[in-house]
Amino acid sequence: MAAFSYICDSVAVITMSNPPVNALSSALIRAVQKAVEEAIGDFAVEAIVIRGDKGKFSAGADIREFNRLERGPPLVSLIDLIEDSKKPVVAAIEGVALGGGLELALGCHYRIAHAQAYVGLPEVLLGLVPAAGGALRLPRLIGISATLSMITTGKYVQAREALKLGIVDKVVGENTVDEAIQLAKKVIGQPLGSRQLSTLPVQCPPNVEAFLDEAMVKVKKQFRGAQSPLACVEVLRAAVQLPYLEGKKKERELFQFLYTTDQTRAQQYAFFAEREVAKWTLPSGASWKTASPQPIRTAAVIGLGTMGRSIVTSLAKAKIPVIALEQDKKQLDIGSKAVMSLLDREILKMEQLGHTEFTNSLGPVQFTLDYGKLRDVDIVIEAVFENMALKKEIFRHLSGICKPEAFLCTNTSGLDIDEMASVTNRPQMVIGTHFFSPAHIMKLLEVVHGHYTSSTTISTAMRLAKMLGKVGVLVGNCPSFVGNRLMRLYVEQAVFLVEEGSKPEEIDRALEDFGLAMGPFRMMDLAGLDIGWKARTEIGLTGPKLPIGTPARQRGSKRYSPLPDILCEKGRFGQKSGQGWYKYEKSGGRNAMPDPWLYNFLSEYQRIHNLKTHYVTQEEIIERCLYVLINEGFKVLEDGIASGPEDIDVIYNNGYGWPKYTGGPMYYASIVGLPVVLTKLEKYYGANPDIPDLKPSSFLKKLVSKGNPPLKEWRSHLGFQSSML
Ligand code: 3HC
Repeated sequence: MAAFSYICDSVAVITMSNPPVNALSSALIRAVQKAVEEAIGDFAVEAIVIRGDKGKFSAGADIREFNRLERGPPLVSLIDLIEDSKKPVVAAIEGVALGGGLELALGCHYRIAHAQAYVGLPEVLLGLVPAAGGALRLPRLIGISATLSMITTGKYVQAREALKLGIVDKVVGENTVDEAIQLAKKVIGQPLGSRQLSTLPVQCPPNVEAFLDEAMVKVKKQFRGAQSPLACVEVLRAAVQLPYLEGKKKERELFQFLYTTDQTRAQQYAFFAEREVAKWTLPSGASWKTASPQPIRTAAVIGLGTMGRSIVTSLAKAKIPVIALEQDKKQLDIGSKAVMSLLDREILKMEQLGHTEFTNSLGPVQFTLDYGKLRDVDIVIEAVFENMALKKEIFRHLSGICKPEAFLCTNTSGLDIDEMASVTNRPQMVIGTHFFSPAHIMKLLEVVHGHYTSSTTISTAMRLAKMLGKVGVLVGNCPSFVGNRLMRLYVEQAVFLVEEGSKPEEIDRALEDFGLAMGPFRMMDLAGLDIGWKARTEIGLTGPKLPIGTPARQRGSKRYSPLPDILCEKGRFGQKSGQGWYKYEKSGGRNAMPDPWLYNFLSEYQRIHNLKTHYVTQEEIIERCLYVLINEGFKVLEDGIASGPEDIDVIYNNGYGWPKYTGGPMYYASIVGLPVVLTKLEKYYGANPDIPDLKPSSFLKKLVSKGNPPLKEWRSHLGFQSSML
């Protein structure tokens, strides 16, 4: 960890080095400060260039140091030293300049970026605000509106867009450091006043107060429950209303307040959890370290339904040439038009951001009816609808056609991977890749490991996730895997609560106020109630296969709610039919409105089934829906379907709209306290003995009996013998 310098024609080049991302640790800040002071004091030096080692400027403050007690020198002083320098300082930005990294670059007088570099202030994603002048200098450079969008979303901005916005002065295709040296030489002796951002006025729209008030309302709505985006608006208000030095004090105050909150701790946990899940290990000892992913140069997707189309789009966005196959001409025409329209939209989005090169860099998509075209692809992703017989037929067919080294993936949300693998001539190369809809946008990929799947196949599928810009989480093979296995119980609990007297909109509101992106009833209406209905009919929970005489509200010894089935029988499939749990302005409408018809229907249903209703509190809604999900999470760990609580949290944070600022369901349980979760589950199970899913799992009980250990120790209490991974 060091900063080292050399002098090139009177320009000192200071290199920040702290692998892998040159995070600004205390030691690095100290080293850079020393190097800058030496350069400023050296008569032979007339200008300074600051760069990052190994093609990365800096990913900002060292997050690993956040919870340490000892504090190093403040980054703010280093940035002030740079800005105050009489010798021009140029930032040569390669790779990334994020958070404190961009703040340091904003302290420099000039910024040159490589075309592939990106910049951003992602502190908000860690539950924080920029703390080293970023939110004060940036609006002085690019204005309030663009700064607001960057700091409240934490989005990363590509170099060309950064140039358009005015964040960088020049974008180069190569030799960033040499170009920075040339620029530094050119500006030696020129006045620097206009380049010292802290001295400039903030660029404001005419009615800035109203603009900020409106922004606050929008941000509250958009990031419901999250504190840091609101604090970002407050920092901007300070930037507008206060002189720079006072603004700095306010920035510090807000940062220090956020720094002590549970939300930032949860978001930092979520950040590291996302990186941890990439480091998978199997009980056999095979791991991400020992297994080698095979190259994926070409791919094929079978089936151009909703999922297939967006998987093709996702591959094309990752520049992977893809062959898209359908079974007949009509489906192929419909599917290819849909894909082209998705790709057009992606191109438009990128062009609006200034990425003209993007248009040419999409992977080519070829549409076909001919399986023979799949002969040479490296990977096939089957994405037809959830029907085992059909999937097996396709896998059998692929076995005979694809080259022996080709990996066969299935996009299933819960079917048995081993059963599919068993019909192929390469079961070790079959793996589940469970995408989330829409696949070209959602970040999660559940990678499902079957009994036969080899470590090379796992490694390749995890690499695919990374290539697609997704977080891959390795899970074991069980019905519904991890995400949907937990989700089913959560949704079922919500429906039971409706039977017991609550209304869909009350339940949705309670869970959305908790922070979930969408309540269970709005989610069911969006996904289509008929999908679950079809699945339940297929396995005989409802419909003609249901044995005659089965009680309406019981399956085996368990409570069952036929409400969703009845809605489907009445043609209420959700948004697509204009009515479901809610009514909509039209078929396909999105505006969910409470439906008086449903209230009458529910009263009648409760009368027929002789149900005693009670007033369901918000607390009961949250606890029953979330604790049943968490309880299943413990069972998943116990069964060895996920290797640790982090895996479950990453799945929920990235695939199910769980609020990251609570860390994920398992982290949330650890904050609530496992004894509390256990006591509540015991209470609800006691009151509802016909809902066995409320019965506390033995792993939860074990952890409570071990004294409620912190989440990072939970794995050590799991026996590896039960692992299905
Ligand atoms: N501090 C400490 N470690 C960091 C880090 C940081 N700022 N950024 C990344 N790392 C670590 C990761 O944990 C990972 O460690 P591991 O190998 O031990 O798991 C390693 O660097 C590589 O990271 P990724 O796996 O994420 O690698 P990618 O190449 O996919 O992505 C990246 C690189 C885009 C830099 C991504 O890591 C990232 O987005 N980092 C976060 C940047 C960030 O949030 N910066 C703001 C920090 S807060 C701040 O600066 C406050 C300021 O206002 C004072």
